[in-house]
Amino acid sequence: MESVSAGYGATDIVRTVSLQAKPGRITTIAGPNGAGKSTLMKTMAGLLRPRQGTIRIGARDITALPPPARAAAGLGYVPQERNVFKNLTVEENLSIGFEFIHRKAARGAFAAARQRVLDLFPDLVPRTEAPAGTLSGGQRQMLAMGCALIAGPSTLLLDEPSAGLSPRYVTTMLDAVAAVNRTGVTVIMIEQNLIEAMRISHDALLLAGGEIKGMWSAAAFLSDAKVKSLFLGGTKAGGELLQQDTSDDASAA
Ligand SMILES: Nc1ncnc2c1ncn2[C@@H]1O[C@H](COP(=O)(O)OP(=O)(O)OP(=O)(O)O)[C@@H](O)[C@H]1O
Ligand SMILES: [Mg+2]
Repeated sequence: MESVSAGYGATDIVRTVSLQAKPGRITTIAGPNGAGKSTLMKTMAGLLRPRQGTIRIGARDITALPPPARAAAGLGYVPQERNVFKNLTVEENLSIGFEFIHRKAARGAFAAARQRVLDLFPDLVPRTEAPAGTLSGGQRQMLAMGCALIAGPSTLLLDEPSAGLSPRYVTTMLDAVAAVNRTGVTVIMIEQNLIEAMRISHDALLLAGGEIKGMWSAAAFLSDAKVKSLFLGGTKAGGELLQQDTSDDASAA
């Protein structure tokens, strides 16, 4: 992204944001609630048209492309909310995720892609005929990611994949993100579970007040004084985010 400003109506939420996610790596976007992280990612996915600036995948300028064309160009997107069709089964959700991109795929291509997703998320295997609305929060997040993955994206945008999950599921989900990345998929992810996120990330960006405040290696991010003061503001609640705490409350935060 180069000098991208975007928002809702006349108000810019993200302002002159320039950032680069390197191919083959996991880049995590961190920042306080309301910082504009989801707005930024919606702009990457094409759901919001930037008021100014340029968005590229590799050398290709995708700024003018609508969301379906970006998906066809290899951009997968898992939104923070409402990311599955609750009244459809797990199987039907996966099928839609596949057919949306591969309308004329050879027979057998769906079965192979479906198997790759179920291998990654075995929790879904006994539930393929269940309506997505009956899944647990963790299972729903797995399905949402599965629906994006089944199309075979080259870049995956994930808006808080571990939000609301118990500590065990947070680890399972982020391990799955790392596994997907190891297959060569570039990942851009928004996360609040920063310790777990940095465990699998390569690079980290800080967004606050709609502006990029810096970029760090994942290893250096959490100990950086600027990150602590800008993102956490020195508050007690913020400080707890940096503790190695595996209670449910901490992961919900
Ligand atoms: N559809 C919308 N219409 C108008 N304003 C919106 C809309 N969605 C978000 N906003 C506003 O944009 C700002 C940034 O919201 P955004 O969802 O991008 O933040 P975020 O960093 O993802 O927060 P969180 O960590 O809580 O998910 C907030 O002030 C929010 O009220
Ligand atoms: Mg958000």
